[in-house]
Amino acid sequence: MRYPPHLLEEIRSRLSASEVVGRRVRLKKAGREWRGLSPFNAEKTPSFYVNDQKQFYHCFSSGKHGDVFTFLMETEGVSFPEAVERLAAEAGVALPAPTEAARETETRRRGALEVMELACAFFEDQLAGRAGGRARDYLAGRGLDGEIRRTFRLGYAPAERYALRDHLAARDVPAELMVELNLLTTGDDIKVPFDRFRDRVIFPIRDVRGRVVAFGGRGMSPDAKPKYLNSSETPLFRKGAMLYNHHAARRSAHASGRVIAVEGYVDAIAMTLAGHPEVVASLGTALTEDQLALLWRMADEPILCFDGDGAGRRAAYRALDVALPALQPGKSLRFALLPEGQDPDDLLRTSGPAAIDRVLEGARPMVEVLWSREAEMGPVDTPERRAGLAQRVREIVGGIRDETLKRYYRDEIEARLRGIGPGAASRQPAGGRAPFVPRRGAFAPAQPVSPRLTARASPLLARSSLFTGGSSSREALIVAALLVHPQLLAHEAEELAEIAFEGQDAKALRGVLLDYAAEGGGDPALLDARLARAGLAAAAGRVAALVRPGDRWALDPHADPVRLEDALRQAVILHRKAGTLHSELRAAERALAEEETEATFAWLRDVKSRQSVVAGAEGDADATDAGETETH
Ligand code: UTP
Ligand code: MN
Repeated sequence: MRYPPHLLEEIRSRLSASEVVGRRVRLKKAGREWRGLSPFNAEKTPSFYVNDQKQFYHCFSSGKHGDVFTFLMETEGVSFPEAVERLAAEAGVALPAPTEAARETETRRRGALEVMELACAFFEDQLAGRAGGRARDYLAGRGLDGEIRRTFRLGYAPAERYALRDHLAARDVPAELMVELNLLTTGDDIKVPFDRFRDRVIFPIRDVRGRVVAFGGRGMSPDAKPKYLNSSETPLFRKGAMLYNHHAARRSAHASGRVIAVEGYVDAIAMTLAGHPEVVASLGTALTEDQLALLWRMADEPILCFDGDGAGRRAAYRALDVALPALQPGKSLRFALLPEGQDPDDLLRTSGPAAIDRVLEGARPMVEVLWSREAEMGPVDTPERRAGLAQRVREIVGGIRDETLKRYYRDEIEARLRGIGPGAASRQPAGGRAPFVPRRGAFAPAQPVSPRLTARASPLLARSSLFTGGSSSREALIVAALLVHPQLLAHEAEELAEIAFEGQDAKALRGVLLDYAAEGGGDPALLDARLARAGLAAAAGRVAALVRPGDRWALDPHADPVRLEDALRQAVILHRKAGTLHSELRAAERALAEEETEATFAWLRDVKSRQSVVAGAEGDADATDAGETETH
């Protein structure tokens, strides 16, 4: 559902920002604004401001900024439509009537939700009643009785074939709907659909608003097959896009600033009992990108607390691979590794809450887990094996979509690679859990290591115009280096074709390079001939002259190819990034000129801050570089 801007404006104007925010944050008047402690960061001096005239808040400690809608989204984890709905109701603003089709879908959805609610209540009653004796004993045996049973709305599906069906039929629920909601089992050879869940303990699965949308049913005997039977996907239930206990976790997550993901239903309940209500479970599948996005809306660094067995480790690694491309500055994961053979529920029962707290405190950062996974795949005692490891991790890190973060990851990975060079190996066991010091000084190998492994992200590179120069020297470097090393076109041609160059020389030379590559490359002498024929020999000279002294090494025909490739790739990426931000800035400026709203202001600010992130990263690269030069 899209809401017209004037409607959002009306909601904003009827509510005071300080009042909405003030329910969560104690605000004091400070001149024309209100001030309080940041709800996003723990702080002692208030740096969080709310401005009623401008209808926004700004948090200097976290850089977060927004209006009443984003405030609800950020602090309560609600979706945008939900925030709009709630605030519209509060402001007394009527939302536009939905279309006929939308209304029909909504009615059906509401009907479906009501049926699920009826089923859930039925299972709860069964657990409390005569049929539920054995299930109650089972749950009590697992420490799941009393209050917690009600909180999680646990239930029991009786053993009869038609118990739920009859119960719902008596309340006029059509059989087709029961089938659609996967409450009944059907099939070509089944004449009369019967209850899907029979003689199982029921774990209702609720959506982000706490409404029951599916069930998990656990068999009570050790040999029950399957151990858990779940609702399959229905119009209400998309497994890969939901999290068990999401609705409860998101409230606590905002209070505690963290969220924990476990594997099992019972683990989530046990964690809640142990005082960690900010917990979700992944619904028996590997974490999907959608689920990660939900986790990241609750906290910056969700902790994955997976079982201490092979399957748990594999699940964690898979989650890592899914998360890696989507990482953002500040957004990551942490991995809490449980003792061998235990899940959170086991650990809590055998060792108590303090043990789980220790596990959570020991949660390891993403980069470390990535590194140890790769480093532990085999010994790195020869140059070939070290090079193999280097190639693997570089490729993985190359998958990070955010360019800034990718560069930071590269730096850290390169430092670690230096740490496994000859002579360094004894001090830093591969995959060791020693706290990692990202700055290079402490890590600089005592003896020289293979140049291949050290060359990347070298001081030269960091000082080069890739990071500090303007676009003209950067594009000159790209073109000139490719002219000297046309074999690199095999990998770079596609990228090259898409770069927005400013200089006429660079553009013309690019054309020749692409033609040469399109014909399969081959003898570099052919390239020279082409240049001469196109009358571009002088242009090649001019472009080469624009390359900064710090980058000249790239024009040496004998330059290290690995280092060269990396330098080029980074140049291309940075060039593209700078270009995109530049055009986005133009667009934001135009938008602001047309319409001076808070949203356009925010956009402009956002583009500028992303530009300064890129610039800041560049500055950082220089600073690190200076430090390293001293240690050599
Ligand atoms: P586990 O096999 O680790 O079980 O499955 P568990 O959570 O420790 O369960 P208990 O303690 O033996 O009761 C983890 C999760 O995987 C899903 C469920 O969501 C379960 O909580 N699962 C597992 C299934 O969906 N089906 C199964 O047959 C098994
Ligand atoms: Mn378990």
